[in-house]
Amino acid sequence: MLKQAIGRTLDRIYPWLSDHVFLRAYAWETNLMASIDPEAAVGGNWEQIGAVYFQDFIKHGLRPQHTLLDFGCGSLRIGRHLIAYLDTGNYTGADMSREVLRAGRRVVEAEGLTFKQPRLIQTQGELDFSFVDGRFDYVIATSVFTHLRRHQIEECLSNVHKVMQPSSTFFFTFLEGDGRITRTAFRQPFYFYEEAASRYGLHVNREASPLEQQLVSTRRSSQKSSRSLSSPPSPSLAD
Ligand SMILES: C[S@@+](CC[C@H](N)C(=O)[O-])C[C@H]1O[C@@H](n2cnc3c(N)ncnc32)[C@H](O)[C@@H]1O
Repeated sequence: MLKQAIGRTLDRIYPWLSDHVFLRAYAWETNLMASIDPEAAVGGNWEQIGAVYFQDFIKHGLRPQHTLLDFGCGSLRIGRHLIAYLDTGNYTGADMSREVLRAGRRVVEAEGLTFKQPRLIQTQGELDFSFVDGRFDYVIATSVFTHLRRHQIEECLSNVHKVMQPSSTFFFTFLEGDGRITRTAFRQPFYFYEEAASRYGLHVNREASPLEQQLVSTRRSSQKSSRSLSSPPSPSLAD
């Protein structure tokens, strides 16, 4: 109820905010929601969504020895499965919301996973992956692009190669739609991701998914064609 009311109000305000303020406002909202209900703050359906995506990643080759970066990890809806599964030290989660990370640390403790030494990083919303060192076998961003503007997604796609090896896979989810913007669900057509990814040397593949959010796997098509978006395209209200 409170969530819907806050959401409706913010939906009206968000299109008018600059990118920086937009991300700060989004982090503020997530902090607020997470302090009330950390499971609902990341979209709810805690058990189902966590388990479905975790199984998907296993199906697509994730093994305990792999390293994984969970970009926009939230309160560890999927992260808790990954931490339990991966070898010690192989899970890194990053999020710009202090409160979801706090909730995530509680989950790690409650589920007896501290010994797995997950690394949880609070970011400032950077989309260039400068908040982390190293490269990962898998990078995931579930229910993250559904909250970002087009050019922010593009910025992320242009930089993700920095944390990928040539053989790495980047999974993200999206909500199919016509580009209509509301704060709670940014919907884009699949060709937007295909075209944006190919500009940065990435090949996307749409995977079958039982959930409303579609799962996409992304691989580097060739090292040569990877390039960074040095200055992101100028923001517009329509994207
Ligand atoms: C809907 S939640 C999903 C959380 C988690 N991936 C999951 O599926 O349960 C989206 C999360 O992405 C985080 N997020 C969005 N944009 C981000 C950015 N630019 N940098 C870091 N975190 C971001 C939000 O703070 C929020 O916790």
